[in-house]
Amino acid sequence: MYACICKAVKSTEIKELIDSGANSLEKIGARCGAGTDCGSCVNRLKKALIESEAQKIQELPVPIAFPIKREAG
Ligand code: FES
Repeated sequence: MYACICKAVKSTEIKELIDSGANSLEKIGARCGAGTDCGSCVNRLKKALIESEAQKIQELPVPIAFPIKREAG
């Protein structure tokens, strides 16, 4: 499926670009041109960026327990 029709960039290519460090609309546009013509794909690109960040957060290790500091008194 195409993420950007104007520049014929597929969703999989966008994901690969994001995974390789293109973490902004400007960087994605600079690397493949997506989002730099009519702009109708910009929301799709933003969604891909948000999903990538959400995935990274999901992959963070979860601490077993948080130490709780209580004040005496
Ligand atoms: S569809 Fe991406 S710039 Fe037009």
